[in-house]
Amino acid sequence: MKKVYIIANWKSHKTESEAKEWYRIFVDSLENTNIENKEIIICPPFILLPLLKSLITDSNSFIKLGAQDVSPFEQGAYTGEVNAAQIKEYADYVIIGHSERRNNFQEDDKLLEEKVKQANKANLSVIYCIQGKDTSVPENISLVAYEPVFAIGSGHPDTPENAEDVAQAKKQRYAYTLIYGGSVSPQNVAGFINMTNIEGVLVGTDCLKPEIFAEIVKNA
Ligand code: PGA
Repeated sequence: MKKVYIIANWKSHKTESEAKEWYRIFVDSLENTNIENKEIIICPPFILLPLLKSLITDSNSFIKLGAQDVSPFEQGAYTGEVNAAQIKEYADYVIIGHSERRNNFQEDDKLLEEKVKQANKANLSVIYCIQGKDTSVPENISLVAYEPVFAIGSGHPDTPENAEDVAQAKKQRYAYTLIYGGSVSPQNVAGFINMTNIEGVLVGTDCLKPEIFAEIVKNA
Protein backbone atom coordinates (compact mmCIF):
# COMPACT_ATOMS: atom_id res chain seq x y z
CA MET A 1 0.00 0.00 0.00
CA LYS A 2 1.50 3.37 -0.93
CA LYS A 3 1.89 6.13 1.58
CA VAL A 4 -0.62 8.94 0.99
CA TYR A 5 -0.72 12.51 2.22
CA ILE A 6 -4.11 13.90 3.20
CA ILE A 7 -3.85 17.57 3.95
CA ALA A 8 -6.53 19.86 5.42
CA ASN A 9 -6.12 23.52 4.50
CA TRP A 10 -8.42 25.41 6.83
CA LYS A 11 -7.55 28.72 5.15
CA SER A 12 -8.93 31.68 7.14
CA HIS A 13 -11.55 29.67 9.02
CA LYS A 14 -12.34 28.70 12.64
CA THR A 15 -12.17 30.16 16.09
CA GLU A 16 -10.57 28.39 19.03
CA SER A 17 -13.81 26.78 20.18
CA GLU A 18 -14.67 25.68 16.65
CA ALA A 19 -11.21 24.16 16.29
CA LYS A 20 -11.62 22.17 19.52
CA GLU A 21 -15.00 20.86 18.38
CA TRP A 22 -13.59 20.00 14.91
CA TYR A 23 -10.73 18.04 16.44
CA ARG A 24 -12.95 16.09 18.83
CA ILE A 25 -15.36 15.03 16.10
CA PHE A 26 -12.57 14.26 13.61
CA VAL A 27 -10.73 11.97 16.02
CA ASP A 28 -14.00 10.25 17.03
CA SER A 29 -14.94 9.73 13.39
CA LEU A 30 -11.62 8.02 12.70
CA GLU A 31 -11.85 5.58 15.57
CA ASN A 32 -11.19 2.04 14.28
CA THR A 33 -9.91 3.38 10.96
CA ASN A 34 -6.54 2.08 9.84
CA ILE A 35 -4.45 5.14 9.05
CA GLU A 36 -1.10 3.35 8.99
CA ASN A 37 -0.18 4.43 5.45
CA LYS A 38 -1.76 7.86 5.78
CA GLU A 39 0.02 11.08 6.71
CA ILE A 40 -2.76 13.37 7.90
CA ILE A 41 -1.70 17.00 8.08
CA ILE A 42 -3.88 19.80 9.43
CA CYS A 43 -2.99 23.33 8.34
CA PRO A 44 -4.91 25.78 10.54
CA PRO A 45 -4.38 29.54 10.79
CA PHE A 46 -1.17 30.36 12.71
CA ILE A 47 -3.05 31.39 15.83
CA LEU A 48 -4.58 27.93 16.23
CA LEU A 49 -1.32 25.96 15.90
CA PRO A 50 -0.54 25.88 19.66
CA LEU A 51 -4.05 24.69 20.50
CA LEU A 52 -3.94 21.93 17.89
CA LYS A 53 -0.50 20.86 18.98
CA SER A 54 -1.70 20.39 22.54
CA LEU A 55 -4.84 18.55 21.39
CA ILE A 56 -2.69 16.21 19.29
CA THR A 57 -0.25 15.60 22.14
CA ASP A 58 -3.05 14.99 24.65
CA SER A 59 -4.76 12.47 22.38
CA ASN A 60 -1.50 10.69 21.46
CA SER A 61 -2.33 11.13 17.82
CA PHE A 62 -0.16 10.70 14.73
CA ILE A 63 -1.77 13.72 13.10
CA LYS A 64 0.78 16.28 11.88
CA LEU A 65 0.53 20.04 11.65
CA GLY A 66 1.37 22.48 8.89
CA ALA A 67 1.28 26.26 8.55
CA GLN A 68 -0.37 27.98 5.60
CA ASP A 69 2.40 30.50 5.05
CA VAL A 70 5.82 31.57 6.30
CA SER A 71 7.77 34.79 6.39
CA PRO A 72 10.41 35.25 3.67
CA PHE A 73 12.64 36.75 6.40
CA GLU A 74 14.49 35.58 9.49
CA GLN A 75 13.28 36.91 12.83
CA GLY A 76 13.50 40.69 13.00
CA ALA A 77 11.63 43.93 12.41
CA TYR A 78 8.96 42.58 10.03
CA THR A 79 5.63 43.60 11.50
CA GLY A 80 2.94 40.99 11.09
CA GLU A 81 5.20 38.18 9.86
CA VAL A 82 5.56 34.74 11.42
CA ASN A 83 8.99 33.23 10.82
CA ALA A 84 10.00 29.66 10.07
CA ALA A 85 11.68 28.99 13.43
CA GLN A 86 8.50 30.10 15.22
CA ILE A 87 6.40 27.78 13.07
CA LYS A 88 8.78 24.86 13.63
CA GLU A 89 7.94 24.91 17.33
CA TYR A 90 4.46 23.69 16.42
CA ALA A 91 4.45 22.32 12.89
CA ASP A 92 6.42 20.05 10.56
CA TYR A 93 5.05 21.37 7.28
CA VAL A 94 4.33 24.65 5.54
CA ILE A 95 2.29 25.42 2.43
CA ILE A 96 4.07 27.74 0.00
CA GLY A 97 2.89 29.02 -3.37
CA HIS A 98 -0.86 28.58 -2.97
CA SER A 99 -2.70 30.41 -5.75
CA GLU A 100 -4.68 32.41 -3.18
CA ARG A 101 -1.40 33.89 -1.93
CA ARG A 102 -0.03 34.39 -5.42
CA ASN A 103 -3.23 36.15 -6.54
CA ASN A 104 -4.47 38.02 -3.45
CA PHE A 105 -1.08 38.96 -2.03
CA GLN A 106 0.97 39.27 -5.23
CA GLU A 107 3.46 36.60 -4.20
CA ASP A 108 5.86 35.96 -7.09
CA ASP A 109 8.46 33.28 -7.76
CA LYS A 110 11.26 35.35 -6.22
CA LEU A 111 9.40 35.85 -2.95
CA LEU A 112 8.34 32.19 -2.89
CA GLU A 113 11.95 31.15 -3.25
CA GLU A 114 12.86 33.21 -0.18
CA LYS A 115 10.07 31.53 1.75
CA VAL A 116 11.34 28.10 0.68
CA LYS A 117 14.86 29.04 1.83
CA GLN A 118 13.55 30.04 5.25
CA ALA A 119 11.49 26.87 5.55
CA ASN A 120 14.50 24.72 4.62
CA LYS A 121 16.69 26.45 7.16
CA ALA A 122 14.21 25.68 9.92
CA ASN A 123 13.71 22.07 8.73
CA LEU A 124 10.09 22.60 7.78
CA SER A 125 8.88 20.33 4.98
CA VAL A 126 7.40 22.40 2.18
CA ILE A 127 4.12 21.61 0.45
CA TYR A 128 4.76 23.58 -2.74
CA CYS A 129 1.67 24.44 -4.79
CA ILE A 130 1.81 24.63 -8.56
CA GLN A 131 -1.03 25.68 -10.80
CA GLY A 132 -0.04 23.68 -13.86
CA LYS A 133 2.75 21.82 -15.62
CA ASP A 134 4.53 25.06 -16.39
CA THR A 135 4.67 26.45 -12.86
CA SER A 136 8.31 26.38 -11.80
CA VAL A 137 9.38 24.64 -8.62
CA PRO A 138 12.34 25.95 -6.58
CA GLU A 139 15.29 23.77 -5.57
CA ASN A 140 15.03 21.50 -2.55
CA ILE A 141 11.32 20.75 -2.83
CA SER A 142 10.10 17.19 -2.57
CA LEU A 143 6.35 17.56 -2.01
CA VAL A 144 4.40 19.30 -4.79
CA ALA A 145 0.66 19.93 -4.90
CA TYR A 146 -0.93 20.36 -8.31
CA GLU A 147 -3.82 22.77 -7.75
CA PRO A 148 -5.41 24.15 -10.93
CA VAL A 149 -7.04 27.50 -10.17
CA PHE A 150 -10.35 26.60 -11.87
CA ALA A 151 -10.78 23.65 -9.51
CA ILE A 152 -10.21 25.49 -6.23
CA GLY A 153 -13.41 26.00 -4.28
CA SER A 154 -15.46 25.58 -7.46
CA GLY A 155 -16.89 22.10 -7.02
CA HIS A 156 -15.33 21.27 -10.40
CA PRO A 157 -12.21 19.17 -9.84
CA ASP A 158 -9.75 18.39 -12.58
CA THR A 159 -9.89 14.82 -13.83
CA PRO A 160 -7.62 12.24 -12.21
CA GLU A 161 -6.18 11.59 -15.70
CA ASN A 162 -5.16 15.23 -16.15
CA ALA A 163 -3.69 15.32 -12.65
CA GLU A 164 -1.74 12.15 -13.46
CA ASP A 165 -0.49 13.77 -16.65
CA VAL A 166 0.83 16.79 -14.71
CA ALA A 167 2.36 14.48 -12.11
CA GLN A 168 4.16 12.48 -14.79
CA ALA A 169 5.46 15.62 -16.49
CA LYS A 170 6.82 17.04 -13.23
CA LYS A 171 8.34 13.73 -12.15
CA GLN A 172 10.39 13.60 -15.33
CA ARG A 173 12.45 16.43 -13.88
CA TYR A 174 12.71 15.29 -10.27
CA ALA A 175 11.34 12.48 -8.09
CA TYR A 176 8.72 14.67 -6.43
CA THR A 177 5.92 13.35 -4.31
CA LEU A 178 2.94 14.72 -6.23
CA ILE A 179 -0.46 15.37 -4.66
CA TYR A 180 -3.65 16.86 -6.10
CA GLY A 181 -5.83 19.69 -4.75
CA GLY A 182 -9.00 21.37 -5.98
CA SER A 183 -12.58 20.37 -5.04
CA VAL A 184 -11.49 17.06 -3.54
CA SER A 185 -14.45 15.31 -1.88
CA PRO A 186 -15.23 11.96 -0.22
CA GLN A 187 -16.73 10.89 -3.56
CA ASN A 188 -13.78 11.69 -5.82
CA VAL A 189 -10.72 11.18 -3.59
CA ALA A 190 -10.14 7.53 -4.49
CA GLY A 191 -10.06 8.38 -8.19
CA PHE A 192 -7.06 10.62 -7.59
CA ILE A 193 -5.26 8.37 -5.13
CA ASN A 194 -5.63 5.40 -7.49
CA MET A 195 -3.51 7.16 -10.09
CA THR A 196 0.03 5.77 -10.13
CA ASN A 197 1.78 9.09 -9.63
CA ILE A 198 -0.66 10.85 -7.29
CA GLU A 199 0.27 10.32 -3.66
CA GLY A 200 -2.19 12.43 -1.78
CA VAL A 201 -4.69 15.28 -1.73
CA LEU A 202 -4.87 18.84 -0.45
CA VAL A 203 -8.39 19.64 0.71
CA GLY A 204 -10.00 23.05 1.32
CA THR A 205 -13.81 23.24 1.43
CA ASP A 206 -14.39 19.60 2.35
CA CYS A 207 -11.99 19.66 5.29
CA LEU A 208 -13.99 22.27 7.18
CA LYS A 209 -16.55 19.75 8.42
CA PRO A 210 -14.72 17.08 10.45
CA GLU A 211 -17.09 14.23 9.48
CA ILE A 212 -16.58 14.96 5.79
CA PHE A 213 -12.81 15.23 6.12
CA ALA A 214 -12.82 11.92 8.02
CA GLU A 215 -14.70 10.36 5.09
CA ILE A 216 -11.99 11.62 2.75
CA VAL A 217 -9.34 10.01 4.96
CA LYS A 218 -11.27 6.73 4.97
CA ASN A 219 -11.81 6.72 1.21
CA ALA A 220 -8.27 7.74 0.30
P1 PGA B 1 -10.87 23.35 -2.27
O1 PGA B 1 -9.51 24.06 -1.90
O2 PGA B 1 -10.80 21.93 -1.76
O3 PGA B 1 -11.93 24.17 -1.61
O4 PGA B 1 -11.00 23.37 -3.76
C1 PGA B 1 -8.28 23.40 -2.11
C2 PGA B 1 -7.14 24.33 -1.83
O5 PGA B 1 -7.24 25.52 -2.12
O6 PGA B 1 -6.10 23.92 -1.27
